[in-house]
Amino acid sequence: MYADEMVATAQAMVTSGKGILAADESYSTANKRFEKLGIPTTEEARRAYRDMLLLTPGLGDFISGVILFDETIHQSTHDGVPFAEAIVTAGMIPGIKLDTGAKPLAGAPGETVTEGLDNLRDRVADYYKLGARFAKWRAVLTIGDGIPSRRCIEANAHALARYAAICQEGGLVPIVEPEVLMDGAHTLERSFEVTEEVLHTVFAQLYLHKVVPEQMILKPSMVIPGEKSSQQVSVEAVATATVKCLLCTVPAAVPGIAFLSGGQSEELATAHLNAMNTLFKGKMPWPLTFSYGRALQQPALLAWMGQDANVPTARQALHHRVKCNSAASLGQYTEEMEKAA
Ligand code: 13P
Repeated sequence: MYADEMVATAQAMVTSGKGILAADESYSTANKRFEKLGIPTTEEARRAYRDMLLLTPGLGDFISGVILFDETIHQSTHDGVPFAEAIVTAGMIPGIKLDTGAKPLAGAPGETVTEGLDNLRDRVADYYKLGARFAKWRAVLTIGDGIPSRRCIEANAHALARYAAICQEGGLVPIVEPEVLMDGAHTLERSFEVTEEVLHTVFAQLYLHKVVPEQMILKPSMVIPGEKSSQQVSVEAVATATVKCLLCTVPAAVPGIAFLSGGQSEELATAHLNAMNTLFKGKMPWPLTFSYGRALQQPALLAWMGQDANVPTARQALHHRVKCNSAASLGQYTEEMEKAA
């Protein structure tokens, strides 16, 4: 019933020169980031923060869709317009985080499985009515001694596939996000091996659960050494390993791939995306773009600091990052663009 609409939505999410703004931090993640900066952790502060981000003039020139958290999709702008409506007016598509977080996987120390399948069908219907047209579910895989285990990979892939199937039944395009964490001291090669196994398993489960590839977006992590690794790798090495891994695992029918930033610095996340789109221009079946959270928001959050007077500067910071990443999605990002700001 929603097939044509979902194909069109998925294509619009990865349309040339645009990416996705992940602004779906849960209460605890948003509050932790605020606390670090001495910003009050109130409902109104979280609303004002999202107001600052989402009403940035020109955001829709570079952003196709915004992922919201449940609290935000029920909130409104300072002049009373529901955020979902304001997003549409700015030429973007509202999306919603549907998972309820990564919880300890029983019997698997140090590993998690993402929850949120209970009542998911009803929640999808409610969010569709509120204006959402796509959704997100993040699975988390940690690299360590003997992990991720096969059990953890399969449990998370199964949950992602059940989520994606229920989304497509209810008219929401699922963003399928299996994040292999950068935490740890692993090498680029180990990151490749784990990401490859995870993506193979995820797409096998998506197939088993009859998820339509044309009606979804993949949101993977990049293939990158652990943040504590002593291995030095170039931007080109990360770009090459990441694209090689995706070419081996992701069906060509998927309309697009939008990366998470996963704790990379803002400029490195942009440089990696740009290198993939430069080195592999014309050699990939799907567009590669961004669906960053921290790598888009961090400079704006630091400029804002909870103060109304800082809103214009904070918006400039966000506008700069989305513009640079838009250029990177086209392989047109340069160091001069950074300096120009
Ligand atoms: P980061 O870009 O900060 O990793 O966040 C993206 C996201 O949506 C995580 O689920």
